[in-house]
Amino acid sequence: MPAVQLTAVSKSYRRRGRPPQKALDSLDLLVEYGGVHGFLGPNGSGKTTSIRILLGLVAADSGSGEIRLLDQPVPDGLPDVIGAVGALVETPLFFPGFSGRLNLQLLAEAAGVSRARVEECLELVDLTDRAADRFKGYSLGMKQRLGIAAALLKEPRLLILDEPSNGLDPAGIRDVRELIRRLGRDGRTTVLLSSHLLPEIQQVCDSVSILARGRCVASGPVGEVLASRGSGDVIVHIGDPATAAGVLQRAGFSVSPAEGALMVHAVDTPSDITRVLAGAGLYLEELRRVTPDLESAFLAITGDPSITGPAAGGTQA
Ligand SMILES: Nc1ncnc2c1ncn2[C@@H]1O[C@H](COP(=O)(O)OP(=O)(O)O)[C@@H](O)[C@H]1O
Ligand SMILES: [Mg+2]
Repeated sequence: MPAVQLTAVSKSYRRRGRPPQKALDSLDLLVEYGGVHGFLGPNGSGKTTSIRILLGLVAADSGSGEIRLLDQPVPDGLPDVIGAVGALVETPLFFPGFSGRLNLQLLAEAAGVSRARVEECLELVDLTDRAADRFKGYSLGMKQRLGIAAALLKEPRLLILDEPSNGLDPAGIRDVRELIRRLGRDGRTTVLLSSHLLPEIQQVCDSVSILARGRCVASGPVGEVLASRGSGDVIVHIGDPATAAGVLQRAGFSVSPAEGALMVHAVDTPSDITRVLAGAGLYLEELRRVTPDLESAFLAITGDPSITGPAAGGTQA
């Protein structure tokens, strides 16, 4: 039974005088219990919208799909489970003149959480030493970690963090990532981490769902999802890329466009490409192995494969 389940969920934002903005387009999302699950997608792909829908902050389009959070239907079952969910969706509001500790104590009191738990949470986010200092003197990274501490007060079974390292300096980013990794290892909390940064997902997450234009385009263990699409790619520069793409596809290669050239996926022996093209009377100008980096994996997964026309159906490596 998954911690989070969205099935065919759509969301359009109505905009005055303009057509509605489709933010989620029949989105499927599954987050199993345990570890850190990444929610990766470029800006505007629908990450925040999905999280807001999960938390009951905005409604999905009426009649669209099914939403479950900790195995309760959303929004009807939310009152039963929302206490077991900690979330950091926007920069949280704290009293600037109060210390980090006092800010947490006020929240704890309102939620019926013990003082001892406040100290535990300060320790978890590594703020014990600075807990007596005023919030307004904290670095952005410290403010963000205090926000995570606040989300942890009620010992949530599910912790949702929406782009928690946005706006932080490198040290702040490192601290927040290190904290999330630690939380994921601890085993009691399932973490859902949204990010538009591939390296962050790779460093921190066990599994990932990749969003593009409001749809989930890939999902699974991080290693598998990224490796299956990004490794063994070869860039081919040739005078007539469209014809070459057709020839390569008919020979069983998986091909997608790449800035006036072709990207051929999952290639074991690049000389096969030379041979196949030469066999069709096509001579390439350059052939270069692409280091299997995350950027190309991400593009291969979310990129628009349409420029070589309908024949380019083979972009799935
Ligand atoms: N309140 C809103 N009103 C209108 N459009 C919105 C609103 N919130 C988000 N959108 C649009 O919905 C799409 C998805 O946005 P969002 O969920 O914020 O993506 P992400 O968090 O991945 O950057 C974007 O095109 C965005 O412009
Ligand atoms: Mg967002």
